[in-house]
Amino acid sequence: MKVHPFFIIALLLASAVQAGEIKNELYTVVDGTKVDGNTLTGFRTWRAAACDRCHGANQEGLVGPSLLESLKRISREEFIHTVTDGRLDKGMPTFKENKQVTDNIEQLYRYLKGRSNGDIVRAKVESID
Ligand code: HEC
Repeated sequence: MKVHPFFIIALLLASAVQAGEIKNELYTVVDGTKVDGNTLTGFRTWRAAACDRCHGANQEGLVGPSLLESLKRISREEFIHTVTDGRLDKGMPTFKENKQVTDNIEQLYRYLKGRSNGDIVRAKVESID
């Protein structure tokens, strides 16, 4: 069978595009920096709540631990519990009075999980569209 070179090029391009996209039940990430709407909301919540004051601009840790490491270890439930109630004796504040955080805690988790998994390659993300 003779295959036209155009088809081979088209196939190569299509697989290159796919390789740049990571999609799972939590998030979609394209080229490491473009994300779906929920994950983008998570990033905006992270910024608005100024978690970076203690956890570092790139989640790498400062006075608070590295969330890149923490999120590999703690469960979604533990994350939600810690952010909601804080660990006041250890310097982690409660965010239960912060409606933006409580309304978007699932999105915040998705964003931070994407960072922790290394699928989102830098802190600042933008919309896929
Ligand atoms: C005033 C500083 C401060 C701010 C602001 C802050 N944290 Fe923390 N956070 C800490 C400290 C300190 C700890 C460690 C507590 C401990 O030793 O158990 C912590 C712990 C955590 C943990 C548990 C980590 C683990 O390994 O068990 C999570 C998750 C977390 N913070 C998420 C957040 C998020 C999300 C925000 C923003 C909504 C935030 N933090 C804002 C100081 C802060």
